[in-house]
Amino acid sequence: MQYFNNNFIEDKGVHILDKDDKYVANFGKQWRDHVDIQIDSKNGFNCSKDLLENVIFSDIKYFQDKTVLEIGCGAGRFSEHIIKYAKELVLVDLSQAIFFNVAQESTNCKRIKADFLRLIPNKKFDVVVCRGVLQHTPSPKESIKKLYEFVKDEGEVIFDIYPPPKIGYFSPKYFLWRPLFKNLIEYESCEKFLTDNISLLLKIKRIIRKIFFNSRFISDCFLPVYDYKDVLKLNDKQLEQWAVLDTLDGMYAEYENPMSFKRVINLLDKYNVEIKYSSKIHNAFRTSLKK
Ligand SMILES: C[S@@+](CC[C@H](N)C(=O)[O-])C[C@H]1O[C@@H](n2cnc3c(N)ncnc32)[C@H](O)[C@@H]1O
Repeated sequence: MQYFNNNFIEDKGVHILDKDDKYVANFGKQWRDHVDIQIDSKNGFNCSKDLLENVIFSDIKYFQDKTVLEIGCGAGRFSEHIIKYAKELVLVDLSQAIFFNVAQESTNCKRIKADFLRLIPNKKFDVVVCRGVLQHTPSPKESIKKLYEFVKDEGEVIFDIYPPPKIGYFSPKYFLWRPLFKNLIEYESCEKFLTDNISLLLKIKRIIRKIFFNSRFISDCFLPVYDYKDVLKLNDKQLEQWAVLDTLDGMYAEYENPMSFKRVINLLDKYNVEIKYSSKIHNAFRTSLKK
């Protein structure tokens, strides 16, 4: 693998550095069992492409003829779009997801199963993309710094990180729901319960929301089931599928370390990084190393 100086083992077309899923075993199960849910081409929507274009602050053609490293690619909701334009797309994920990624058949796609923090760069990339990942790493500060090791001097690093909820760690998600789910309910039992009852759970959640002045924040405090109604253009079945997937995502990720927009800006300043575009809505940044 020309891009990295690590010793990989090859298995089913994947370069493997970390055989074990370590702290992302939940994501491996999630992407194995719900691989198609967020893939535009399998569902006749454009949710993933729209989100990607928002995060890169550009049309998808931005990737034309570029070498791209996508870190934490998951099942490939973005990979399937990037691959159409990139000269070469290298996908990295620590979890089993790398075996299920939908871009795997493309000849310009290479896959690595690794903790990206352990990768030793050799040849650098035009673009590094890391979306939906950093808050799930043990130290987002260290992870953000690491992203710049993989990019060419004139290249760009694009990432987002979830912002903390309005009331920070006082949010029930942190002191109640996540500890409760992770310690008392097995992932598989929760998945079965959600799948069997999601229609009812969403109905209850929407009633709670109505009672509390349409507040998503308050309804999230009572019932931690994700509901994208009126947020994304999804039909009822898709709303249920996304609710199951993202509830598992939110409750079982080992690490959930959000970072505010302001903190990211201060950090990038410390790392001598230029911010070319940023979005408070997506807490997303398109950046490059200062000359
Ligand atoms: C919430 S998913 C996001 C997947 C995709 N980027 C998306 O936005 O839908 C986070 C992904 O990051 C991966 N991940 C987390 N920490 C990682 C690490 N240190 N190295 C490589 N992948 C990691 C997980 O395995 C998981 O597939």
